[in-house]
Amino acid sequence: MEWWFYTGIAAASYMFVVIYLHLRHPEKHLNWGNIELSDVDFPPTFSWGVATASHQIEGNNHNNWTQFEVSQNLEISGLTCDHWSRWKTDFDLVENLGVGHYRFSLEWSRLEPEEGEWDQGAIEQYSMMIDNLIERKIEPMVTLHHFSHPVWFEAKGGFAKAENIDYWVRFSEKMFSVLGWKVKWWCTINEPAVFASMGYVLGEFPPGKRSFGLTRSVSLNLMRAHARCYRALKSLPGGEDAQIGLVKNINIFDPYRRWNLLHWIQAKLLDEMFNQCWLRSLRTGKFRPPSSIFSRKIDGLRGSSDFIGVNYYTHLLTTPFMPTTVEIDPLKRPWEERTDFRYPMYAEGLRRSFDMVNSLNLPIIVTENGVADDDDDMRPEHIRRHLWITSQAIRDGLDIRGFYHWSLMDNFEWAEGYTQRFGLYHVDYQTQERTLKDSGKLYAEYIAKSKMPQVVVLAGGLGSRLGGMTKATPKSLIEVDGKPILSHILDWAHGQGCKDALILIGHLGEKFDGFSHRGMNLQFVKENQPLGTGGAIWNARQYLADEFILLWGDDYHPIDYKRLVKHHRDNRQRLTMTVIESHDTQNLQHAENRVIAYSKSKIDENFNGYEAGTSVVQKSVVESCGHTGSWSWEETVYPQLSGQIHAYIDETKFWDMGTPDRLAKLEKFLKRNRS
Ligand code: BGC
Repeated sequence: MEWWFYTGIAAASYMFVVIYLHLRHPEKHLNWGNIELSDVDFPPTFSWGVATASHQIEGNNHNNWTQFEVSQNLEISGLTCDHWSRWKTDFDLVENLGVGHYRFSLEWSRLEPEEGEWDQGAIEQYSMMIDNLIERKIEPMVTLHHFSHPVWFEAKGGFAKAENIDYWVRFSEKMFSVLGWKVKWWCTINEPAVFASMGYVLGEFPPGKRSFGLTRSVSLNLMRAHARCYRALKSLPGGEDAQIGLVKNINIFDPYRRWNLLHWIQAKLLDEMFNQCWLRSLRTGKFRPPSSIFSRKIDGLRGSSDFIGVNYYTHLLTTPFMPTTVEIDPLKRPWEERTDFRYPMYAEGLRRSFDMVNSLNLPIIVTENGVADDDDDMRPEHIRRHLWITSQAIRDGLDIRGFYHWSLMDNFEWAEGYTQRFGLYHVDYQTQERTLKDSGKLYAEYIAKSKMPQVVVLAGGLGSRLGGMTKATPKSLIEVDGKPILSHILDWAHGQGCKDALILIGHLGEKFDGFSHRGMNLQFVKENQPLGTGGAIWNARQYLADEFILLWGDDYHPIDYKRLVKHHRDNRQRLTMTVIESHDTQNLQHAENRVIAYSKSKIDENFNGYEAGTSVVQKSVVESCGHTGSWSWEETVYPQLSGQIHAYIDETKFWDMGTPDRLAKLEKFLKRNRS
C-alpha cells in the first residue's frame, strides 16, 4: 500500500474520533440575553441556604492551615471574620436573608486541640450555636472536614496514612453523639478532590507537596474515611434519621480547541481524575484514585451517601500545557466574563454538573455556588443565571433539593487570603462591620418569593350539627383517622412548604394545650368570649403576616398552595378565594375571575360556584374591613370586597366535616390516601 493510503486512513480516523467527541460532549453555551431569567420556579419545600467554613470565618485558629500560612509566607488568616465571638449577630445576618438552612463546618482543631483532649467549652459553644439556629427555624448542616484539621493530626501524616483515619472517624462519632440528635444534615468531607489536588499535586494547600504517590494515598484514604464515617454515624443512635452525604466539587473540563485531539485527551483525563472516578466509587464501591491505574474496593463505600452535595464554580478549558499556578489566567471563551478569581462565569456548567451526578440516583443539593466579585457588579447576574439553571433542571425532573450560596459573608479565601470576596455581606476587616450587598438583597428576594405565606386557621368553632361531640370541643380537634382534623390540615400545609401557622383557638383555648405539629412553628391566639370568624381574625391582627393563607379549621382542602399563591400575587388583588364549580350547592357568583356576589343563606339563580375554603389574604383587608366585637368574616368581607376578590377556580374536592355523615366520608378518604 502507498503511504498516502495510510495517511488517509489516519486522517479519517482522527476526524471521526474528534467529530464523535464533539457531538457526544457538546460544550453548552446559552444566549443569556434572550433568556427571561426571572422565569424560575422552586418547590415550596426547596431548601434555601448559605454556607461558610470554620477556618474561613471563625478567627484565631491553630491548625494545619495556620501553620501553612506561616511556612509559605501567605497572608495570615488571623481574626478572619471573628465569627467565634460574633456568631450570634452573624446568625442575625443569616436570618435576615430569609434562608431556612445554614451550612458550616466544625473546627476539629478547636474541639480536639491535642490528641484525645476534648475542649468542652468549644463543644458547648457549637452546641449553643446549633440551638440558636434551631430557635430561629434555621436548619443546620454540619461539615465534618472542610480543609482544616489539628496540627497534631497533620504531624502524624494527616490523610496520607491509612492508620490516621481512625482519629477523624472518632472525632466525627464524638460530634455526632453530642449534636446528632439536633442536627439532621451532615456533610462528611468537603471536596476531597480539591483537598488532594491542591495539597498534594499543586502544593497550594497544606502540606504543600507535589507528589503523585501521596495524592493517590490521600485520595484513597479520604474515600475510606468518608465510607467509614458514613457507616459509623448511621449505626449511632439517631443515625438512621440523619442525612449524611459527601460534598463533591464538580469542575467541568472542556477542550480548548474542539478539533484538537490532544485537548480532548487532556479534558477527558482531568474529568476522569477530578470527577468521574470519585462519583463512580460511590456507585460501585471501587475507587481508582487519580494517578493510579488500579481500582481498589473500599468497604462500605458503595451507597455511602444519602444525598450528593455539589459545589460548582466554573469550567476549565484544557490543553496539554495548562497553567498550574493561579498567577496565570486560565483560558476562557471570548464571550465569557472573568470573575475576580480569573476563571470565567459559566452557569451552563451547573446543569452539566447536575446531569453528571444524576447517575448516582441521589437527591442533589447545591452545597456551594458563588463568585469572587469585589465590587458586587457580577454577583447579581451570577445568582440569576445559576438559579435559573437550577430551576430549569428541577422543571426537567432532576431531584434538586436545595441551594446554599457561597458564602454568607466575605472571608479568608485559603491560599488567596483576603483578596477574593465571595460574600453576600461585605466585611470590613478593620472594623468587622458587615454590610448587605445588592446581591444579598437579590438572593433574599428570591427566597421571599418562593416562600409560602403564614397559615391562619380558624380553629375555635363549635359545631352545632355534630351533636354532643362538639358542644365543648372545637370541631378542629375532632379526631379523624387517628388524629385531630387540625393535624391533617397542618400536615397538608406543611407538605406545601408552610412553616408558620397562627391558630385561632376561640374561647375554649385550653383544649389546645400541648398541641404541636412537627416541623411547624405554631402560635395560638385565644378569645375572651366568642367573637365569630371575623372577630377572631381581628383579635389576632398583631400576629398576622402581611400576606397569609386563611383556612377553616373544619375543612380539609388538599389543593396546590403554590399555584394558588402565584395566582394571588400575579392578579394583585387583596383577597383570592378558591371557588369550586362542581359542588352540589352554590353560594357565590363569579365572572371574569372575580367573585361578584356571595350569600351564606339564600341561593340565587345566578350563583355559579362555591367557596372551597382556602383563600389568600392581604393583612390590609383585615385592617380596612375589621372592627372589634363579634362579626362574621365571610358575611362582612365578601360583600364589601365584591368585584375585587380574585376567584381562583379549582375543582379539587374539599372535605368539610360539619355532619357525622361527612365526617365518616373524610375518614374513609384519609384512610384510602394513607394506604
Ligand atoms: C471551597 C470553599 C472556597 C470556595 C471558593 C470551595 O471549593 O469549599 O472553602 O472558599 O470554593 O473558592
